[in-house]
Amino acid sequence: MLLLLIFLVSVLPLSTDGGKIFWGTEVKPHSRPYMAYLNIDRNNSHYVCGGFLVDKDIVMTAAHCNGRPITVTLGAHDMRNKKNTQHISVIEFKPHEAYDDKTLVNDIMLLKLKHKAQINSFVKTIALPKSEDWVKPGQVCTVAGWGNLANCHLSNTLQEANLEVQKKQSCMEMSRNYNDSIQLCVGNPDKKMAAGAGDSGGPFVCNNVAQGIVSHRFCTGQPPQVFTRISSFIPWIKKTMKLLQQS
Ligand SMILES: *[C@@H]1O[C@H](CO)[C@@H](O)[C@H](O)[C@H]1NC(C)=O
Ligand SMILES: *[C@@H]1O[C@H](CO)[C@@H](O)[C@H](O)[C@H]1NC(C)=O
Repeated sequence: MLLLLIFLVSVLPLSTDGGKIFWGTEVKPHSRPYMAYLNIDRNNSHYVCGGFLVDKDIVMTAAHCNGRPITVTLGAHDMRNKKNTQHISVIEFKPHEAYDDKTLVNDIMLLKLKHKAQINSFVKTIALPKSEDWVKPGQVCTVAGWGNLANCHLSNTLQEANLEVQKKQSCMEMSRNYNDSIQLCVGNPDKKMAAGAGDSGGPFVCNNVAQGIVSHRFCTGQPPQVFTRISSFIPWIKKTMKLLQQS
């Protein structure tokens, strides 16, 4: 059940509509240079997550993307093409101390890379919000990832989808664990677009600022779904980045 919650989280169509399949579209190559592809090993299983570069040697992702080891690929578009990519191992893992794998609250983690990424036109950091930035219902922002497509296979190319922020009531109806002060309720139920398996940990970007982290879906598999609200974690992020940079 928990795995269902977590790992059913890609820019994939959740249903067909009049025979027409809705899903994300391929991103213009390298137009999202902050995107990180995470290869995760956990107890002899292999997982894939998204993440994003927030400093030269720090990647932000979801806490449920935890595992050892993790290798980060930066500068990728089509995962079959290694050109311009940088593969860097993770040497330190800082999931939020209050992350709870039952309710999935505080689903945020910072990873320290073995060395600084080389910043160039394929690899760049993304800005984080200020504490007072409050993403509102009705706002449309973009999620990106290499997660599952309609055929339940991971995508080779980076996909993106525009998703609308919903009123908190839409998610509170689905789960009493939903907490709008630290989470975002995302995805119009009528649009049939959402992030899917393998997209966890990826960014939800509004006006070039990373405002959310793909966290989980409800058991119906239908939107809305839950993202971590980054602006509510700024003091934790600052403190944790400082710790990671000193180590
Ligand atoms: C790996 O398996 C061990 C033993 O079953 C368990 O205690 C541990 O929590 C697992 N680790 C993860 C990250 O799931
Ligand atoms: C929502 O999260 C905030 C911040 O962690 C916490 O103070 C508050 O008690 C939570 N609300 C509920 C209803 O759990």
